[in-house]
Amino acid sequence: MKRVYLDNAATTPISPEVVNVMLPLLQNEFGNPSSSHSYGRQVKAIIETSRRTIASKLNCLPAEIIFTSGGTEADNMAIYTSIETLGVKRIISSEIEHHAVGHTIEHLKETFGIKLEYVALDEKGNVNLSDLENRLKSDEKTLVSLMHANNEIGTLLPIQDVSEICKRNNALFHCDTVQTVGHLPLDLKELDIDFITCAAHKLHGPKGVGFLYINKKNRAHAFIQGGSQERGLRGGTENIYGIAGMAKAIELACDDMEEHKNHVQGLKTYMIDQLTSIFEDMKFHGEIDPDKSLYTVLNCCFPKSENQGLLLFSLDLKGVACSGGSACTSGANLGSHVLKGINADMSRPNARFSFSRYTTKEDVDFAIDQLKAIYKI
Ligand SMILES: Cc1ncc(COP(=O)(O)O)c(C=O)c1O
Repeated sequence: MKRVYLDNAATTPISPEVVNVMLPLLQNEFGNPSSSHSYGRQVKAIIETSRRTIASKLNCLPAEIIFTSGGTEADNMAIYTSIETLGVKRIISSEIEHHAVGHTIEHLKETFGIKLEYVALDEKGNVNLSDLENRLKSDEKTLVSLMHANNEIGTLLPIQDVSEICKRNNALFHCDTVQTVGHLPLDLKELDIDFITCAAHKLHGPKGVGFLYINKKNRAHAFIQGGSQERGLRGGTENIYGIAGMAKAIELACDDMEEHKNHVQGLKTYMIDQLTSIFEDMKFHGEIDPDKSLYTVLNCCFPKSENQGLLLFSLDLKGVACSGGSACTSGANLGSHVLKGINADMSRPNARFSFSRYTTKEDVDFAIDQLKAIYKI
């Protein structure tokens, strides 16, 4: 059966170039990077070269990159570090963050009594910047944690503006950039941000590896206690294959970003145009304006139908892989906290289609044909 994959915000296929980097390492390099003999030193060199590659693509110092097991750990590390080490007493975030942030800050509120406030959003998920600035007019040491691009609806944060607001008001800024590293330019010397995060599998790298960027002006203590890996901040033998694969994935994504962006934005615009002409009263959740929306994500709000509860299931049966929202909660069937957070019309069926540089126009046409068949158009 023909199948198309339109769920790239959940995860992306690993690219052949990344596999080519990882395979020989898996076959030949087994040393422990903490060992002082040649086997260890060889592997340690791979880790440090990877760190330099990533730092050069993001314009930061290699020492500001801490390798983690992925986006969730990196988000946790940023938030815990700001509380345990940097004196944060209050967090300002939004109700539409990924659970890696949302559940972490709720836990910190319940367990440690950290104050938690949510910034006002509009119906497309845009942050109200005046509300943010007003909330920051207090002497309490505050962390602002807002994501760069929402993984369910694609709405982008004006990251430079938020960074300036935080700086003006002496607040720390953590930006969950898991959906944007390698997809949008990030110059960390230009942007004054305290923490950003990455998961390699969102940009054609391997799963189970990511990083946290910590601005050098912030001192941090161990997040995972153990050995002295990652400058003592994260104990545990490093995932060298993952780290080398991630560096290659970031290099490829950053070097060809403009080309990939034009290709993927073209597909997204095409899908919007097709759906709008096929369905009466077609709507989309979140921003779709290319300047305000991540080009890889399109959250569709379809007209009501008899079997609307089965839309995703029907698409899957017809070979179209997409999702209702975040993959992390799709098994829990609790309804999307993001759509609730922007007061979206939940009486209509929705589906998130997300694209990558490997997606083709034929894939989009196939998905549209299956939607037409389901809606009997
Ligand atoms: C915005 C965002 N943050 C964090 C994560 C968590 O990343 P990981 O599953 O690699 O830990 C994801 C993954 O879906 C994400 O989309």
